[in-house]
Amino acid sequence: METGQRLGVGVIGAGFIGSFHARAWQGVRDADIVAVTSRTRTSAEALAREVQELGVGADVTVHDDIAALVRDPRVDAVWVLTPNFTRVEVVQAITREVTSGRARLIGIAVEKPLGRTVAEAREVLGLVEGAGLLHGYLENQLFSPSITRAHGLVWERGAKAAGTPYLARAAEEHSGPHNTWFWNGADEGGGVLNDMMCHSVEAGRFLLTPPGADTGTWLTPVSVTASINSLKWGRTRYAAELARTYPDVVDYTKSPSEDYAHAVFEFLNGDGEPVVVEATTSWSYVGAGLRLSFELLGPEYSMDSSTLSTESRVFLSRDLQQGRGEDLVEKQNAEQGLMPIVSDEAMSYGYTGEDRAFTADFLAGRQPRESLANGLQVVELLMAAYRSAEMGQTVTWPVDLAGFTPAVAKGEWNPRRK
Ligand SMILES: NC(=O)c1ccc[n+]([C@@H]2O[C@H](COP(=O)([O-])OP(=O)(O)OC[C@H]3O[C@@H](n4cnc5c(N)ncnc54)[C@H](O)[C@@H]3O)[C@@H](O)[C@H]2O)c1
Repeated sequence: METGQRLGVGVIGAGFIGSFHARAWQGVRDADIVAVTSRTRTSAEALAREVQELGVGADVTVHDDIAALVRDPRVDAVWVLTPNFTRVEVVQAITREVTSGRARLIGIAVEKPLGRTVAEAREVLGLVEGAGLLHGYLENQLFSPSITRAHGLVWERGAKAAGTPYLARAAEEHSGPHNTWFWNGADEGGGVLNDMMCHSVEAGRFLLTPPGADTGTWLTPVSVTASINSLKWGRTRYAAELARTYPDVVDYTKSPSEDYAHAVFEFLNGDGEPVVVEATTSWSYVGAGLRLSFELLGPEYSMDSSTLSTESRVFLSRDLQQGRGEDLVEKQNAEQGLMPIVSDEAMSYGYTGEDRAFTADFLAGRQPRESLANGLQVVELLMAAYRSAEMGQTVTWPVDLAGFTPAVAKGEWNPRRK
């Protein structure tokens, strides 16, 4: 592209995360959202309206299918924001247009996870590389200002003087996802381990890696020890609540997905030292709302961060009868009492940073550092964690997971079954 040109972005998938990216785009200065497509035209039209109201795109075209969107001459790059079970077919539809010469794209950004299995993630990466596209893996947490600032400071002031950090702890917890397909193991690829530990393991790897270095090169996987459980949603009462809320959901008394996962990943770092990522995720945390927490420990230093330790809080008295909302914090659980407010969630969780970084890279013809190869490494780590949890043993590298599908995703897992 010529210098000074703006990047035109086409969005595929107009759901929850599509709306988050639209809001994040208010912090992106060199790209516009120019086109949207989704499974239903009404959701695509709603997102197009939101984009225009936010001023992050004008004359946004709503396309009926992916082929039409990627052929749109205004579209230079696509953001893939559709559910996990569509990942391969959506990327096939995009790359088919590019390799046949019917569409000209610079780059593609893909939401987590890259695939539900290692085989799917490899296929996605292969398709994108085969089409010659620049690619970014949309792992927002690596772009959260609270993490990037602390990471830079800890490495500059701590690690330089005392040596590399050795333990990263990352947790993501909330009270459960917002759409049926997340709850159905086959569609999602598993449960909370697949849905949210992808964030925690990548955030942990990022924190343990020096600024500017490649995570996959700096950290060599050694082993993982993991456990999963169904703590809340497999209970009869809560399985019934799920069935009422999401009519097509699987029966959680018979084949639940895990709502709790814990994993300890050991790596060797670039100095040859053992280092650890300790990750915890759950859909069974009932607090104010989504809570992301991080710690990094090194020989003479440490950092910690929690998204619920906010700068602002509001208090709403018992006399206020408030309707349910999600206006204070993502996955909000209450509208009364002392509540935290995350003032700019798109910025705090890292969506603004990732969108800004990838559009700048694509405009410059540069491969983003957080690439789909990172996405594949994350899937490999997560599948090894599922394998460890299923076997009740530590899994050590090298491990071949090409043909592995978690029992949860096959509907064959139920910790309450004797
Ligand atoms: N980075 C994060 O923190 C984060 C948060 C939420 C979701 N996600 C990821 O983003 C993706 C989408 O999640 P969501 O929460 O927006 O889901 P959602 O169910 O809210 O929305 C998905 C949208 O995709 C559309 N869609 C479905 N199949 C399609 C197809 N074949 N072609 C085009 N559109 C299709 C649906 O109509 C819907 O509008 C998932 O992979 C999820 O894991 C990431």
